[in-house]
Amino acid sequence: MLCLGWVFLWFVAGEQTSGFNHSACATKNILWIYSLGSVKDLVLFCDLQELRKQDFSHVSQTSPTGGPAHTRCSGHENLAAVQWYKQPQHGGPLEEISRGSAHVQDKGVLQIVASRENSVSSYICRPRIRSPQDTACCIRTVLKVKPRRNESCGDKAQAEQILFLGSTGSIHCPSLSCQSDLQRPRMTWYQDGRLLRDYKENPIEMEAIYDFHEGLYVCDYAQSDNLSSWTVRAVVRVKAIEKDINLKPDILDPVTDTLEVELGKSLTLRCKVQFGFQKDLKPVIRWYAKESPREWELLESENKSTDSTAKSKVIEATTFLREVTWRDLRREFVCFAQNSIGNTTRSVQLRKKDGDTKEFDAFVSYAHWSSPEREDTGSVSEEHLALNLFPEVLENRYGYSLCLLERDVTPGGVYADDIVSVIKRSRRGIFILSPSYVNGPCIFELQAAVSLALVDQTLKLILIKFSSFQEPDSLPELVKKALRVLPTVTWKGVKSAHASSRFWMQVCYHMPVKNSSGFVFNRL
Ligand SMILES: *[C@@H]1O[C@H](CO)[C@@H](O)[C@H](O)[C@H]1NC(C)=O
Ligand SMILES: *[C@@H]1O[C@H](CO)[C@@H](O)[C@H](O)[C@H]1NC(C)=O
Ligand SMILES: *[C@@H]1O[C@H](CO)[C@@H](O)[C@H](O)[C@H]1NC(C)=O
Ligand SMILES: *[C@@H]1O[C@H](CO)[C@@H](O)[C@H](O)[C@H]1NC(C)=O
Repeated sequence: MLCLGWVFLWFVAGEQTSGFNHSACATKNILWIYSLGSVKDLVLFCDLQELRKQDFSHVSQTSPTGGPAHTRCSGHENLAAVQWYKQPQHGGPLEEISRGSAHVQDKGVLQIVASRENSVSSYICRPRIRSPQDTACCIRTVLKVKPRRNESCGDKAQAEQILFLGSTGSIHCPSLSCQSDLQRPRMTWYQDGRLLRDYKENPIEMEAIYDFHEGLYVCDYAQSDNLSSWTVRAVVRVKAIEKDINLKPDILDPVTDTLEVELGKSLTLRCKVQFGFQKDLKPVIRWYAKESPREWELLESENKSTDSTAKSKVIEATTFLREVTWRDLRREFVCFAQNSIGNTTRSVQLRKKDGDTKEFDAFVSYAHWSSPEREDTGSVSEEHLALNLFPEVLENRYGYSLCLLERDVTPGGVYADDIVSVIKRSRRGIFILSPSYVNGPCIFELQAAVSLALVDQTLKLILIKFSSFQEPDSLPELVKKALRVLPTVTWKGVKSAHASSRFWMQVCYHMPVKNSSGFVFNRL
């Protein structure tokens, strides 16, 4: 016996232009107590199977036709394939509810969306395929929507309820929350349109929650007034989820703390983080760069979720460096990941890809014959700068290998070929510019280096403005242009001489980065 009270309401209808006489349909009254903040939809079933199975003896008296009610839905119709109609409020033919409409139909279940409060509407369903004599094989559902009078009642049972996988759990019927405990009506529960025969109470209690407990639940109970009986219906959306995993995020990638890069090339830094399941997960992933004492956040170009399971969520944050500079090699790139439990960081240092076959860190070019007017001022000569100070600071202090033609190549005099070969074997070309340099034969070294640098990405040139000079008209165009665009460090006499002077800091700035050689860099 079904607890649903079927009431057959008969009326002699006027002409039904739809050609479908639905006055013989079984009628079911549904009361939807509408509560603010509740699920905004309700489901109606087309219980034709129940209609067929039902023992009609108790209702047959109400059938004015007196006809044998058990002939309803007698055929072997596919009762899941049903057609729903809406009866217009002010008469007129039935409106077919098409598949594309706002109402969702699935397996005979009609999901009604955005119903108006305080309204009464009728929905009729019948099988798509039926035997011609089964005119009464249809159900008319009168839906009455009533706002909840006391809103504070609605809080006890939410329209969306969460169950934890593996634990015990219970599902509460929202519409009952204002009923007193004394009055415990017999319930009918459905899950995704399926009748749950084992549950007749509120709430439903379950010993262990599984995935399959998820779904759209419907709870019904009967309520009668003097005139008719109603089925009070409520809908609960139930989710079965993992319990919160109370762990800090785990950085899956980068794995290592160094990353090989090529200078001048772009670089994408990826940070892949696994966050354990949390109901209220607020994941944070950031990339930032650190160069003591400063640190600043890098703009994420993308932040996407790559892999989600019931237990975890993997999110990847990427940041993009347009061009890796030597400066980047001295920075730390830090991926920071955070959830409500705590944070995890992973620092990455960029390392220049090995593989250049260069022998020298820098080739130093200077005017070999000092101009006499410089020597008698008692200040540092350009030759002294090149032959003494550069090795003292760059080699002894910072560990760079320099190439000084006089010292390292051919003390007796050099040929053009030697110079080109030496420049090719150097990562940097340092040019100490002065009037004697730009007017002397050494300008050839700069010219050769500029030409080589155009085709060799790993060769960078640094100009040292030792003393001011007039640009000779005879300079090749290429050199003139180079003088304007190349990085230039100005020598400021004795005050530049000290190893920790601004001059040397600037020179170091343009030098290649040393790695794993045990040298500590001046942080700029
Ligand atoms: C509809 O059916 C009812 C009962 O089956 C009948 O009394 C009524 O005359 C029918 N109406 C039309 C328009 O056929
Ligand atoms: C509303 O419901 C709450 C809790 O059930 C109750 O305490 C309160 O008195 C009710 N208010 C009204 C106006 O009925
Ligand atoms: C139900 O009947 C009682 C008395 O029998 C009456 O006072 C009440 O107004 C009726 N309710 C409705 C909804 O007709
Ligand atoms: C990261 O966590 C540590 C404790 O583990 C805390 O001291 C620090 O403030 C956190 N950092 C941020 C940015 O929240």
